[in-house]
Amino acid sequence: MATVEISGLKKAFGAVEVIRSVNLKIEDGEFVALVGPSGCGKSTLLRIISGLEPATDGEILIDGRIVNSLTPRERNIAMVFQNYALYPHMSVAQNMGFNLKLSGLKRSEIDTKVKEVAKLLELDALLDRKPGQLSGGQRQRVAMGRAIVRDPAAFLFDEPLSNLDAKLRVQMRSEIKTLHQRVKTTSIYVTHDQIEAMTLADRVVILSGGNIEQVGSPIELYNEPDNLFVASFIGTPSMNLIDATAVSTDMGMAAQLPCGQLVRLHRTQHVQEGQKVVVGIRPEHFVLHTGETALAGTITLVEPTGAQTHVTFKVGEVPVMAVLEGGLLLKAGEQIAASVDPEKVYVFDKQTGRRV
Ligand SMILES: Nc1ncnc2c1ncn2[C@@H]1O[C@H](COP(=O)(O)OP(=O)(O)OP(=O)(O)O)[C@@H](O)[C@H]1O
Ligand SMILES: [Mg+2]
Repeated sequence: MATVEISGLKKAFGAVEVIRSVNLKIEDGEFVALVGPSGCGKSTLLRIISGLEPATDGEILIDGRIVNSLTPRERNIAMVFQNYALYPHMSVAQNMGFNLKLSGLKRSEIDTKVKEVAKLLELDALLDRKPGQLSGGQRQRVAMGRAIVRDPAAFLFDEPLSNLDAKLRVQMRSEIKTLHQRVKTTSIYVTHDQIEAMTLADRVVILSGGNIEQVGSPIELYNEPDNLFVASFIGTPSMNLIDATAVSTDMGMAAQLPCGQLVRLHRTQHVQEGQKVVVGIRPEHFVLHTGETALAGTITLVEPTGAQTHVTFKVGEVPVMAVLEGGLLLKAGEQIAASVDPEKVYVFDKQTGRRV
């Protein structure tokens, strides 16, 4: 196990800058997810950490030691990719011990090590089976077992679940998390799925266009997004983001929507009268209520999910989504008023995109 530090990291392919200047410290035993849209540089960053790709500038430190000039093997990092590529003709035990055999370890030592790891992964009863006789989850555990027997300093995962069906993905996600809680190896996990990142990681790093937008625990990112990018990226359904102008009212600051309706803002928010802002409201923060702070409009879509009802309504010309508790008997075309606690209203500067 080890700390992994990235300092002033830059990467360009020819004239194209893919990683702009990334600084990140990952603690010993920590599980960090790198998440961001396609092409933002996630895999490139992972490949640079592993040593498969050289950095253009900056340093990678493992346990405080600069490893830029070391080969992947010397860095002692295990990569787990989308397809596990187990050898189909070998047993579980042979698959798990294969790398140790290559590095010249004695047969008895390999056996001991494989048995120890198999026990940890609850694979001890399956050691004689071939990969074809295992479930998807068991196969993944073998792939991880094969990495664990080498005692890597860290695990790097690049979208390991992306070609599984939805149900298996959720199951595997729990398996990976449970496994990390047991072995506590420092892990860096790349995904474009924010739910996967949130549910798995101690800390989530949000990347966009080769820059880190924000780093934080899942709850920090959800509660305190620094900017519009993070606000819209984290949370499903995503946060409503509505253009407005800050106005001063008898009841304190408010944001006026183009249709004239007002959203009250919490008094500690530093907005100036007349400032162009973007108001952020999470769909799940709406409650069905016609108080003075409510937004009113015409329902355009009702989507029941069982425990909740997703309602889209038009406030002026702006579509707004509310996730309301319970199975509600609402219909498109009806009027609705839903309110939100002013404490839970986010305000971003329209020009900079930063939260104010
Ligand atoms: N060898 C290469 N030569 C030139 N450009 C590259 C090379 N590898 C990656 N790129 C570019 O660098 C950018 C980042 O690629 P990367 O694979 O890191 O994205 P990603 O975040 O992993 O995306 P995805 O979610 O689609 O896997 C992309 O624009 C890609 O086209
Ligand atoms: Mg990728």
